[in-house]
Amino acid sequence: EKSGFDHFMLKEIHEQPETLRRCTAGRLTETDIELANFNLTAQDINSYNKIYIVACGTAYNSGLVGKYAIEKLAKIPVEIDVASEFRYRDPLVDESTLVIVVSQSGETADTLAALREAQDKGAKVVAICNVVGSTIAREADDVIYLQAGPEIAVASTKAYIGMLMSFYMLAIYFARAKKTLSDIDSKRLIDGLKALPNQVQDIINNSEEDIKELSKGYADHEHAFFIGRSIDYAVAVEGQLKLKEVSYLHSEAYPAGELKHGTLALIEEGIPVIALATQKSVIDKTLSNIKEVKARGGVVTGIIIEGEEEIEDLDYRIEIPKADELLTAILSVVPTQLLAYYVAVERGCDVDQPRNLAKSVTVE
Ligand code: F6R
Repeated sequence: EKSGFDHFMLKEIHEQPETLRRCTAGRLTETDIELANFNLTAQDINSYNKIYIVACGTAYNSGLVGKYAIEKLAKIPVEIDVASEFRYRDPLVDESTLVIVVSQSGETADTLAALREAQDKGAKVVAICNVVGSTIAREADDVIYLQAGPEIAVASTKAYIGMLMSFYMLAIYFARAKKTLSDIDSKRLIDGLKALPNQVQDIINNSEEDIKELSKGYADHEHAFFIGRSIDYAVAVEGQLKLKEVSYLHSEAYPAGELKHGTLALIEEGIPVIALATQKSVIDKTLSNIKEVKARGGVVTGIIIEGEEEIEDLDYRIEIPKADELLTAILSVVPTQLLAYYVAVERGCDVDQPRNLAKSVTVE
């Protein structure tokens, strides 16, 4: 049931505030994260010298954010790999490694094979998963369910946001077990998590019409670029995947600092560039990259924090509410989802069933 929306993808984008509420229900106390039926002990968590995140597609992209969060808060080095690479390369995994697999469906063949490979090598596996009772959920040693409800559109939106929330909770949980996060900082982050559902709602309310308008300017293009630094780059990767998968517009994401190492050669008059610039610690660097793009005629849409009036050089501005620098991914991705959706509609694509793709990839 599309409940009045034209497509499931749009319905699921609109469900995201609720997805976040359900994902956090019963799991956030004042200063801690509670994960029911979680078997990993504080002693286990303290024994890991490395974490591997393994997944495919959008689930992999959520892991790019997960890596930042876990390394920053829990100070455990994190490697990330796509499942179809991990499983065939004899990965360096043993009892001192924790493997986190991420899968909406819980049935993705390569992710399941990676889970089994990791367990064969003696590692414990935590699954971040949506479908209850799926194979990956059953075989993992621990599961964090997204509680997102069924996701029907092939392009994943609400599951991605649930994955991000799960990674944030897991990172705080690990950090508390490792005592690398004080009560005060933990409370501040958890308060930040609690604010996210309403902030996502505000973004949808305030920017959907503008993005719909903006999408008309994208429809005739063949290429688009997404740039950002740190967590903004992780979100850029998801933004470009969503745009290309539903609208068939070729898009690529680059760390903003990599532009001048090759990609800048492709920036010419009129090329659309989505610049994510929400990270205060690197904002000056990102702004100088935006200048470089503008100087070559690129048309830049900035996704920025509200009130940053000094950010110039943007052709279009999409503002998101203020949030902790680590948590902005859950906010900045929303405009990229809406953009992908409206560009696809504008180009007459079959939004909910993109060509050649399936919701659950059970063959390798
Ligand atoms: C993109 C998309 C795919 C899936 C990927 C993994 O929107 O939906 O990239 O994310 O096939 O699927 P799961 O999460 O079910 O393992």
